[in-house]
Amino acid sequence: MRVTITVNGTTSQADVEPRTLLVDYLRDNLELTGTNIGCDTSQCGACTVHLDGRPVKSCTILAVQADDSTVTTIEGLSGNGQLHPMQEAFREKHGLQCGFCTSGMIMAAVKLVEDGGDLSDRGIRERLEGNLCRCTGYENIVRSIRHYAGEVESHAPLEGDEAMAHHRTLQEAEELAARRQS
Ligand code: FES
Ligand code: FES
Repeated sequence: MRVTITVNGTTSQADVEPRTLLVDYLRDNLELTGTNIGCDTSQCGACTVHLDGRPVKSCTILAVQADDSTVTTIEGLSGNGQLHPMQEAFREKHGLQCGFCTSGMIMAAVKLVEDGGDLSDRGIRERLEGNLCRCTGYENIVRSIRHYAGEVESHAPLEGDEAMAHHRTLQEAEELAARRQS
């Protein structure tokens, strides 16, 4: 089946088997291997990406279900040679050890903060229940997300690419990627 999917600002078409999972399409067709497969049974969240602005486990979605959709993977968060501020927060607060869960954790965390709501330690832990980490005990993951959330709140909006680099929301990141493609 023919699918047209925009991934990280680039639209491409491909013929896929109807059974092809979105995560396999991303990894095998587009070679975007930052999205990991940890369980294949919808439990670990290592495969989390954004589909039309919503965090989804890409092992639970068929590529054909993403036809005519927009996907952002961990590779699409960074831009202009700079890490996304959430990635910086994980680096600074040591929110990872082996790193296997990290791309999915960061994709989930970006939306978690964007969506607002309870950003207490407990609130973050509850809302990240779909993303499992086997290494860190979650302490530094929560610390990283709170650090990022604090950074977002404590800065006034800036203009231009500099602002995008420091305060990019997903929508802004996608608009920036589209502008860079044109
Ligand atoms: S690989 Fe998708 S939830 Fe584990
Ligand atoms: S850092 Fe190893 S699974 Fe999370």
